[in-house]
Amino acid sequence: MIDCKTIHKNKRILVGVTGGIAAYKSPDLVRRLMERGADVRVVMTDAAKEFIAPLTLQAVSGHPVFQHALDAEAESGMGHIELARWAEMIVVAPATANFMAKAAHGEADDLLSTLVLASEADLVIAPAMNQQMWQHQATRENIEVLQGRGITIIGPGEGDQACGETGLGRMTEPEDIAQQLLGDGIPQLLAGKTVLVTAGPTWEAIDPVRGITNRSSGKMGFAVADAAKDFGATVVIVCGPVSICAPVGIEKIDVQSAKQMQEAVMGQIDDCDIFIGVAAVADYRPVKVADQKIKKDNDEMVITLVKTPDILSAVAKSEPKLFTVGFAAETENLIENSRKKLKAKNVDMIVANDVSGQESAFGNDSNAVTIIHKQGEVIGEIILERTDKYRLAIQIIEHICKQYLKNQKSKNEGKDQSKNP
Ligand code: C5P
Repeated sequence: MIDCKTIHKNKRILVGVTGGIAAYKSPDLVRRLMERGADVRVVMTDAAKEFIAPLTLQAVSGHPVFQHALDAEAESGMGHIELARWAEMIVVAPATANFMAKAAHGEADDLLSTLVLASEADLVIAPAMNQQMWQHQATRENIEVLQGRGITIIGPGEGDQACGETGLGRMTEPEDIAQQLLGDGIPQLLAGKTVLVTAGPTWEAIDPVRGITNRSSGKMGFAVADAAKDFGATVVIVCGPVSICAPVGIEKIDVQSAKQMQEAVMGQIDDCDIFIGVAAVADYRPVKVADQKIKKDNDEMVITLVKTPDILSAVAKSEPKLFTVGFAAETENLIENSRKKLKAKNVDMIVANDVSGQESAFGNDSNAVTIIHKQGEVIGEIILERTDKYRLAIQIIEHICKQYLKNQKSKNEGKDQSKNP
């Protein structure tokens, strides 16, 4: 099970860089925090700029580096108070003895120290300094004050120092800092794999202005696509009409009707390893679509409907067989109906979604589901508690990965045995 600590989608972290030789490690720290999903901004002190160029940190973080407390241009964008409010965590790495002394005594004579005072964010300090400075009574007392306030101090480590001495004072390695703060990150179990996801509703036209559709915001499908990408997959999403933006880094194919969705899906599956049908595909479409808006001259109206293609079943039948996952929205007998669906559609997994109560998934940012999975003839169930859709999607993809990789392993073992009977 992925530790919640590893899911830091968009966690807002301000990295403060102060003037020590270990500043050369700060871009690596920024990169490692970003790899774990964090949204990072950087503040540098004047002394830090003697060791490393702001442009380096701008290039790595993808944002201009904040440098001055009273910079009119910066204040017209994200001003220092706004930046202090924006941050959920401030990580000062490397932190000099001078920075720690200022932080311990509440001094605010530059942008970074001002932000630390003005922010309610968790403060983390990774000290780096000469071993004598680290041992000095003044530094020891400052650390005691900072720790007494609940501030996290990471390191320093022991070893050879840039000044030629040996001892305690080396900044903890960026990977270790990132690991301690955000965990291992999401394992790249789907690296090299392509995942095809359907999302949103479909729209089955009656005439140019009216149609039949299903309730679906597309949020769950987008969260699943985003999570698959975060597990390292290349992701393609085929999406019905929705009003939300697709996650970045994902190829999106827009469609309207079930037929168009089927065509788009079938056009992609040869290049895919896993198919996840999250779309709420309309089950029926009007046999005839009127060219012009139908007039409401009659009190009653009959529209003949015909079944739409079942995309999920079609994908499950295709050869070579993809690992196929369906979503089932049910208002009653959730598990029983979903188990039936798993068998009828011959898929590997069904994610069952109770859409009956007020807390149903529709348009909501959170959801709870039960996964019904098939391994050979054995059908099992896993309950995933209510949480936001991205976190839920991470857990769903984690289960998909486990079963997909198990299936691949037994397929390969089967092949080996047939080679060497
Ligand atoms: O049969 P039911 O619509 O409840 O099944 C839901 C699952 O089947 C979802 O994964 C949905 O994307 C998929 N489906 C489909 N094509 C349809 C209807 C449903 O792919 N025409």
